[in-house]
Amino acid sequence: MAESNFSVVVPASTANLGPGFDSIGLALNLYMTVNVSPSEDWEVTYKDDGFEDLPTGENNLIVKTVTNIAERKGRVAPASRLIIQSDIPLGKGLGSSATAIAAGIEIANQLLELNLSAKEKVLLGSGYEGHADNISAALLGGVTISYFDGVEMDVVHIREPKMGAVILVPPEALLTEASRGLLPGQLSHSEAIRSSAAGNVLSAAIARDDWETAGRMMEKDIFHEPYRKKLFPEFDRIREVCHEYGAYGMTISGAGPSLFVAVKQGNEGELAKRLAVAFPYYGCIAVKPSNAGAVVN
Ligand code: HSE
Repeated sequence: MAESNFSVVVPASTANLGPGFDSIGLALNLYMTVNVSPSEDWEVTYKDDGFEDLPTGENNLIVKTVTNIAERKGRVAPASRLIIQSDIPLGKGLGSSATAIAAGIEIANQLLELNLSAKEKVLLGSGYEGHADNISAALLGGVTISYFDGVEMDVVHIREPKMGAVILVPPEALLTEASRGLLPGQLSHSEAIRSSAAGNVLSAAIARDDWETAGRMMEKDIFHEPYRKKLFPEFDRIREVCHEYGAYGMTISGAGPSLFVAVKQGNEGELAKRLAVAFPYYGCIAVKPSNAGAVVN
């Protein structure tokens, strides 16, 4: 069993990009780094503010992921000390739980020398998350377009998307379950067809790096946006202003409460500054795609 010190770096991610609901993920260049070293008991220390409420022992999501994978393999993972530094806002729609699960998968893979393939990791992570969008992007980087039905999974990986982005982060966090609770139990056949068509064109446009078309399709979602948009102060006005400032499109980041704006590569810094002035309620962060997924050093 591997006992030496190592670290795992995992990116944040935005999910859905509108109608790619539970399927499309984009890794972003905000990172969580976990330093792992042997210890008597599981011990987790967060170095940054904002993580005080997270469990620091066996109930920590990273630790639970490691120990659950070990259990499935009929093994026991050696207790470790995890020291965590993270730029990823918690509970803000930037895939923080998928980042933690991806870190847990990589740590288990390392500690137990499991040699998991990328697909095995993504399948495991999707099982824990219940959907594949954030976890695929967190593990693989770039854009991921996934199919996951609880048993089978397929993922198409687009490694180096050429675009920039701005994330508008409100002060309050939102639980994914609460946001999913706003969704209807059923959609009509015609609505499902329309939103799937938007998702199909979105995927094809992303694959061709045609972010003009992708941006338009991001705004055609009827799987979740109509039910969630009331959570976002000034949603319609923000979308309008993003277009006035030349953005490709604006949509909800994952389940919210943040908003995601796709913009021409290199324009993200300027757009973030202008949106911060126009919408001071939100913190505006300029980001780029992370072409790297989870990496063990
Ligand atoms: N696809 C998920 C949702 C992302 O929108 O609920 C959040 O985990």
